[in-house]
Amino acid sequence: MKPLFIGLISGTSIDCIDAALIDGSTEKPVLLAHHQHPIDPATKQAIAALCLPGDNEIDRMGNLDIKLGGLFADATNALLDKAKLTHHDIVAIGSHGQTIRHRPPKQSNAAGFTLQIGDANTIAEKTHITTVADFRRRDMAAGGQGAPFAPAFHQAIAPQNCETSAFLNLGGIANVTTVHQGKIVSGFDTGPANGLMDAWILKQNNVAFDNNGEWARSGNVNTALLEQLKSHPYFDLPAPKSTGREEFHLPWLETILANGYKAIRKEDVQATLLRLSSETIADAITQQATTPSVVYCCGGGAHNTMLLEDLQAILSDTKITTTKELGIAPDWVEACALAWLAQQRLEEKTILLSDVTGAANNRIAGCIYAS
Ligand SMILES: Nc1ncnc2c1ncn2[C@@H]1O[C@H](COP(=O)(O)OP(=O)(O)O)[C@@H](O)[C@H]1O
Ligand SMILES: [Mg+2]
Repeated sequence: MKPLFIGLISGTSIDCIDAALIDGSTEKPVLLAHHQHPIDPATKQAIAALCLPGDNEIDRMGNLDIKLGGLFADATNALLDKAKLTHHDIVAIGSHGQTIRHRPPKQSNAAGFTLQIGDANTIAEKTHITTVADFRRRDMAAGGQGAPFAPAFHQAIAPQNCETSAFLNLGGIANVTTVHQGKIVSGFDTGPANGLMDAWILKQNNVAFDNNGEWARSGNVNTALLEQLKSHPYFDLPAPKSTGREEFHLPWLETILANGYKAIRKEDVQATLLRLSSETIADAITQQATTPSVVYCCGGGAHNTMLLEDLQAILSDTKITTTKELGIAPDWVEACALAWLAQQRLEEKTILLSDVTGAANNRIAGCIYAS
């Protein structure tokens, strides 16, 4: 029987829960089935509210922790139905959980902490499958950023024959991994990918995201605004670094707009936000010692044709493509990474990420909740 693993993740965008089933018996993980599980609007709102400091957080967090654990279990059971499998067929689930606060050490005065919720006890209880969760905090305890973790998986799926390739995950936040001759050279969050664009179009047009970047395409980049947004200190920080909704959120944008850009057209703001993402991503890629010959995009933003066109225009000597070329459709890379991380944990393999996260050493990541 094949060793099958399930990965669950709900990212910064809070768009849905991604669930992926992988075959762990092959050298490179193979995606066998996938499922996108909806998160209802009230729950999305409750998550977003916990991502910014507010009142009575402990009760709100406790309730949401259990609720999300149940939703992650539902996502798993729906995936199993789709794949015509039962819990007996699965070795383990790797569940990332929903990040509600990420305070990496070097960017705050206190020691860092990161918090993902979606109770793994509930997942194990409702699915009868061993669940691995809490992947990031051991790395932080060892002095790391606890992020990004995707580079380890990117390395696992990187083409062996390529001199230098990069993986660009376009979620709410963007992260780039550079792999040179099979080894990770660097991996860090570059800043916003879709998060600010999502927030702006939701507020102005009441739609969840800018389909294919069409609204951004209809506007013009405002260079003064672009320069001001690019002056955010995060962009100049050296790696290792990681970021989230704490840094790049709608109130940050709105404060800047209120102080000098009141007359700007709404679509011009969107065009400028898209250019902010493409330029800061391209800057991060070209700052590497070796510029990659190919960039494999993944995450929902890989569907934003305008963003990919913009990147291709800036990085004219680099091939911009998606992970589909490597056999994993862009929407499923992160969930596959979680399934793979669960397998690494059960096999007690260390995750070779300390160079990326800045941790003192490589650690075994994740806690096991038995079935
Ligand atoms: N067709 C599309 N056009 C533009 N953007 C898209 C499209 N499909 C998905 N996205 C973007 O991808 C985001 C979700 O990507 P995802 O990788 O799930 O991010 P996260 O890991 O933050 O949840 C959406 O919020 C949206 O911004
Ligand atoms: Mg998502």
